[in-house]
Amino acid sequence: MTFKVLILAAGKGTRFKSNLPKVLHPLLGKPMLWYVVKAAREAGAEEVIVVVGHQRERVEEFLRREFPDVIAVYQKEQLGTGHAVMAAEERLSGYRGRLVVLNGDSPLILPEDIRRIAETPGDMVVLTAKAPDPTGYGRVIRDDSEVLKIVEEKDATEEEKRISEVNTGIYAFDAAKLFDALKELDNKNAQGEYYLPDVLKIFKKRDYSVVPVISKDFESVMGVNNRYELSVAEKILKNRLIKKLQLSGVTFHNPNSVYIEPEVEVGRETVICGPSYLRGKTKIGQNCYVGPFCDIADSEIENGVTVESHCWIRRTVLKSGSSVGPFAKLREGTVLEEEARVGTFVETKKAYLEKGVKANHLSYLGDCRIGEGTNVGAGTITCNYDGFNKWKTEIGKDVFVGSNTLFIAPVKVGDGSITAAGSVITEDVPENTLAVARAKQVNYVGKASVIKERKRRVKGGHTEENR
Ligand code: UD1
Ligand code: MG
Repeated sequence: MTFKVLILAAGKGTRFKSNLPKVLHPLLGKPMLWYVVKAAREAGAEEVIVVVGHQRERVEEFLRREFPDVIAVYQKEQLGTGHAVMAAEERLSGYRGRLVVLNGDSPLILPEDIRRIAETPGDMVVLTAKAPDPTGYGRVIRDDSEVLKIVEEKDATEEEKRISEVNTGIYAFDAAKLFDALKELDNKNAQGEYYLPDVLKIFKKRDYSVVPVISKDFESVMGVNNRYELSVAEKILKNRLIKKLQLSGVTFHNPNSVYIEPEVEVGRETVICGPSYLRGKTKIGQNCYVGPFCDIADSEIENGVTVESHCWIRRTVLKSGSSVGPFAKLREGTVLEEEARVGTFVETKKAYLEKGVKANHLSYLGDCRIGEGTNVGAGTITCNYDGFNKWKTEIGKDVFVGSNTLFIAPVKVGDGSITAAGSVITEDVPENTLAVARAKQVNYVGKASVIKERKRRVKGGHTEENR
C-alpha cells in the first residue's frame, strides 16, 4: 500500500527551556527529527512532508542537508497539532490516498509500526499504547473496542487521568476526509489550541471509521517533551543499537558504558570495551579490539586492528593489522597502512604511515609521509609549523629515525638513511646517509673528581651555592 507521511515539527518545545528547536535536540548525535524521517523512509513512504514553524530556517537547513527530497511546509503560528496539519493542506490538495501523521518528538518510532497503521483499514487509525506512567499524554477513552474520544491531560477529569492507555500522536488517515474534518475543528479547550486528536470526534459524528491499534510496547512511541525524557529515549535507542550489533556477532564488555551513534558499523568477532565512545560515520571491521576509554569518530578501521585503551581518534584510516595506543591521539587525515603501529603518547595529524612503520613512543607526527618499514624513535617531532605556515616532512623507506630527532619542515629524508639521536634535521638527507645534526660532545678528562672533591668539602653534602 502506498502512503505519504506528514511529520509535525513546528512546535517550540517550551518544556525543553532551550534556544534550539525541540526536534533538533540530538539523540546519540543526530536530531530527533532525523530518526523520525528515517523511520518514515524505511517504512516505505512515497513522500515525506515536515511541518516547520518555530525557527523554521534551522529546521529547514537541517532537512536540506540531510534529506534534500523531504518537503517542508510552513505553519506560521503554532496553534496546535490540528492547526499544524492544516499547513500541509495546500501541498496535499487533490491527494486522495493515505496519510500517516507522525510527531517530530517521537523519535523511537519503528518503521514496522508506521507500516502497520498505514496498512490497517479505517478512515482514522490511531496508534495507542499502555503507558507505565501516562502523565502528560492524551488519554484514550473507550467503550470496549470502540474509541469514544481522546482527552488531553489538561482537559481530563481525575477519573480519566487514571486511564493508562495513551494516544501516541501517530495516526493514519484517509487524507481527503482528514482535511475535510479539520474545517470543523475548534480550539475550545484548556490550552486554546486546535488539537489533532479532536478530529476523532468529528470523524465519529460523520460515521467515518475510527480504528485503534495498540503498540506492542510503549518505548517505541514515547514522546520527548523535556531533557529528562530525551535522556530516557537516548538510553533506549543506544540499547537497541548495541543489541543489534551483539546479535550480529560483536562482543561488548560493559555495554552500559559504551556510547554509540546510529551510523557506526562494527564487524563480526570485534570486541569493544566500555567505557568508550564510537561516533559519526565510524566503520570498524571484523576481529578488531577496541580497549576501554577510547573515543573514535568518523574513522575507518579495517579488519584485525587493535586500538589499546585511552585513544582519541578522528577522521583516521587504520588498515588491516595496524595497531595504536595505549594513549594515542590520532587527528584528522591520519592513515596507518597494514601492520603500522603508533604507540604511547604519540600524536598524529595528516600523517601517512606506510606499511610496517613504527612510532612507538612520545612523538608528534604532523603533515608527513613516512615510508614503508621506517622506525621512528621516541621523542621524534616533525616541526611542521613555522608560526606562519604548515610544511611537510617526507621520510623514505627503511629509515631509522634516532630518538629525539626534530625535523624542521619542509624537509626530506631519503630511503635507508639514519638520523642520529638528538638531531635537528634542517636540510634534506640523501638516500643511505647517516645524518648527525647535534652539538659535538666535549670530554674534560679528570674534571669529575675535582667536582666531587668540592662537594665533599661542603658539610651535609650540600654545595655552598645551595645553602
Ligand atoms: C501530543 C498529543 C497527545 C499525545 C502526545 C504523544 C495533541 C493535542 N496532543 O501531545 O494526545 O499523547 O502528543 O506524544 O496532539 N506541533 C506543531 N505545531 C503546533 C503544535 C505542535 O508542529 O502548533 C508539533 C510539535 O513540534 C511536536 C508535535 O507537534 O513535534 C506534538 O506536539 P506537542 O506539543 O509535543 O504535543 P504533546 O503535548 O506531546
Ligand atoms: Mg510531545
